[in-house]
Amino acid sequence: MSGEAARAGLPAGVVLREMAEADVPEVHALERLLFPADAWPEQMFRDELAQAQTRRYWVAEHRTPSGTRIIAYAGLMCVPPIADVQTIAVVPDFEGRGLGSALLTGLIDEARRRGAADVLLEVRADNPRAQALYRRFGFVQIHTRRRYYRDGVDALIMQLPIAPAGAAEAGDAGEGETE
Ligand SMILES: CC(C)(COP(=O)(O)OP(=O)(O)OC[C@H]1O[C@@H](n2cnc3c(N)ncnc32)[C@H](O)[C@@H]1OP(=O)(O)O)[C@@H](O)C(=O)NCCC(=O)NCCS
Repeated sequence: MSGEAARAGLPAGVVLREMAEADVPEVHALERLLFPADAWPEQMFRDELAQAQTRRYWVAEHRTPSGTRIIAYAGLMCVPPIADVQTIAVVPDFEGRGLGSALLTGLIDEARRRGAADVLLEVRADNPRAQALYRRFGFVQIHTRRRYYRDGVDALIMQLPIAPAGAAEAGDAGEGETE
């Protein structure tokens, strides 16, 4: 994960890196814990990772002398001009420490780098915490999908317009910085 995300001030011992196929069982175990009603099947992560042209996934790892574990993950699909946040999740004991923000910053960076004009996501209507995070980043609700989730909860569709990398003035180094 590049630039802004790396500067986001992660908790001590936490490193962001690209998700690898070997991470899938550990990520899937977290997925079942964090999305009890809507967990993706394990194969879905493998299918996503296999589509590198349009997908990019990261994990956050907590490294300590006694071991390393994955504590967060996120993924993006980008087929310009639209990028979609496929997933974003942080384990409960690391919530509220900036990991969600760091991952989201990285996803938006990547969407911009790949030439997207908008980032879209869907979020459960009963998930105010995630909605607050997205609003803080400037996402606005553009639709509601009634009873979208398996347990009958609505999905809010949220959108963030972004300026593509290189849309800045001539002479810009094109490092994804906008301001
Ligand atoms: C939604 C989710 C990804 C947010 O991740 P997170 O790591 O807690 O997010 P952040 O820490 O970046 O931000 C959350 C809050 O912590 C605060 N925060 C961020 N960094 C902080 C820090 N260093 N110290 C104290 N508080 C901090 C933020 O201000 C924010 O507060 P707010 O929500 O009142 O605005 C996480 O709660 C999660 O994974 N939930 C379960 C799965 C889920 O719902 N995923 C989203 C599906 S659409």
